[in-house]
Amino acid sequence: MNPASKSYLELLREFQRRLEAARKPAAESRWILGHAAGLSDKALAARLMQAVPPDVEEAAWAMLNLRLKGYPLQLLLGETEFYGLKLKVERGVLIPRPETEGLVEQALGYVPPEVEAQVLDIGTGSGAIALAVKAARPRATVWATDINPKALELARHNAQQLGLEVTFLEAPFTGGLGGLDLIVSNPPYLPERYREEAPPELAYEDPTALYAGLEGLDVARPLLAQAWAALKPGGWLWLELAPENIYTLLAEATAQGWREARVYRDLAQQPRYLACQKPAHSPPPPEDEEGLLVWEGE
Ligand SMILES: C[S@@+](CC[C@H](N)C(=O)[O-])C[C@H]1O[C@@H](n2cnc3c(N)ncnc32)[C@H](O)[C@@H]1O
Repeated sequence: MNPASKSYLELLREFQRRLEAARKPAAESRWILGHAAGLSDKALAARLMQAVPPDVEEAAWAMLNLRLKGYPLQLLLGETEFYGLKLKVERGVLIPRPETEGLVEQALGYVPPEVEAQVLDIGTGSGAIALAVKAARPRATVWATDINPKALELARHNAQQLGLEVTFLEAPFTGGLGGLDLIVSNPPYLPERYREEAPPELAYEDPTALYAGLEGLDVARPLLAQAWAALKPGGWLWLELAPENIYTLLAEATAQGWREARVYRDLAQQPRYLACQKPAHSPPPPEDEEGLLVWEGE
């Protein structure tokens, strides 16, 4: 070994020290070095005492330095895992979060595997929710909308890589769909004031995927109204929201006539998911004596 060059083990230890000093998980050192060297975790472990080639060391340092500045690990690696699926990620499209796996887990309870359900993911981003639902419920017809063309391109790529059939629409909210059994959505839901206090990782995300006005409800509120029109009677809506605005939307959903409206906690015990059901028997509009519709109040 050239005395100037380091072994993989020495470089790993150096990276671990730097990451720990920056309060980031030391285990990320293995991902970074493995990615720079083009080695799996297992292959890296097998050559810890070997010298790191200079070009690999240079690439690994460049990645580490970006990471120390807060650049998300998933963007450095170009991929992430979501609900057991490997997804490509890229700048400009939200990196799927572990909380959203909890949303999928809960919502799947409303799609019996034997039913040919119609499911919509609003604001699909990388396609995470829609693809996880389709993978877990192959009989379902799954739709997904987004207003960001870059997101849709990435989501379509992920669907193709995974061999999963989802119809992606560049459209706001429900894209005019109707007769749905289930709508699942992780809309932008952070209140604007979070921009000031957000961790450095969020600076690398598309702000329109994160922030939604003063209360963080500027997307979720119209979504609630549009979901009502798109769901079948008895259909369910599952939303991910922020602990500070979820109870506001719960109250509004209840006041608007949604049934069974409830808030559920995520794994960190934060109130995170709002579920509500469109009534199975919505009262019909009032009729006059000749059976003609009578519209009141307008
Ligand atoms: C928080 S990200 C969620 C991405 C993905 N579903 C996930 O969980 O990783 C919100 C997404 O909603 C999209 N979006 C924002 N407003 C929208 C709207 N009115 N209709 C559809 N999508 C919207 C954004 O472009 C972004 O991709």
